[in-house]
Amino acid sequence: MKRFEGKVVLVTGGSVGIGRAAAQAFAREGAKVVIAARRESEGIATAKEIAADGGTAAFVRADVAVEADVVAMIDFAVKRFGALDVVFNNAGVEGKLGPIGTLGVEDFDATFNVNVRGTWLVMKYALPHLVATRGNVVNNSSVAADVGMAGTTIYAASKGAIPTLTRTAAIEFIAQGVRVNAVSPGPIETDMGSRFFGSIDNMRGFAATAVPAGRSGQAGDIAEAVLFLASPQAAYVVGQTITVDGGMSSK
Ligand SMILES: NC(=O)c1ccc[n+]([C@@H]2O[C@H](COP(=O)([O-])OP(=O)(O)OC[C@H]3O[C@@H](n4cnc5c(N)ncnc54)[C@H](OP(=O)(O)O)[C@@H]3O)[C@@H](O)[C@H]2O)c1
Repeated sequence: MKRFEGKVVLVTGGSVGIGRAAAQAFAREGAKVVIAARRESEGIATAKEIAADGGTAAFVRADVAVEADVVAMIDFAVKRFGALDVVFNNAGVEGKLGPIGTLGVEDFDATFNVNVRGTWLVMKYALPHLVATRGNVVNNSSVAADVGMAGTTIYAASKGAIPTLTRTAAIEFIAQGVRVNAVSPGPIETDMGSRFFGSIDNMRGFAATAVPAGRSGQAGDIAEAVLFLASPQAAYVVGQTITVDGGMSSK
């Protein structure tokens, strides 16, 4: 028996990177997966790849910073597959990076609108459906919230909000049988990781010294933790943020 057979899983930012790896992993475990993102071409391509591998997936275009898009996205998932069991609340942006003096309030708002307001909005509209299925949410924070890194004031602060959102939503909803947890990835080799460090080679160079495991992570490293948190095996894990960073924040 596959771990998510017949379950409906929404992955925001599921078109590329960490979200894509998680969408593929959920589909391999039998889930019907809804992939949401702003760019249609990448999202449709990932949904087609999952279908070609024998899985079930659908794409919906949505910007998680836009309330009407979030409402329509949740509606799409529930109507398309009949319920909602798991939300991997993963969509995020690194936004503008750099010394604080070079950043403006418009940069602050753009990053917080996606990473904080978007994460909150998706929970707000998904949680009533998750009560019906006794489902769960996995949010996505970052090691940048735990380890000070120059040039990341806005991004790191936005990701620092995620464990707090996770803890508070978990306490609000656990009595109704819904768990809320989060992952906190270290440096992961994705498009964002490449933009963050300038290139994947730069990230690997950074990881060789900054990460005790001696390497940067793969999207699949995070997907494994997400599937665990979303699974019945994590039934007693409530309101936690699990760090998957090769030891970077443990030094
Ligand atoms: N890579 C890392 O090193 C790392 C480390 C720690 C935490 N994280 C977190 O992990 C998550 C995924 O990161 P990643 O590395 O996979 O990033 P990525 O490669 O840039 O992918 C981001 C995904 O989110 C979607 N997205 C971005 N803004 C969105 C919006 N407003 N509405 C809907 N979808 C949106 C993107 O699609 P569209 O652009 O088409 O919308 C894409 O599917 C993020 O929350 C990130 O902060 C990443």
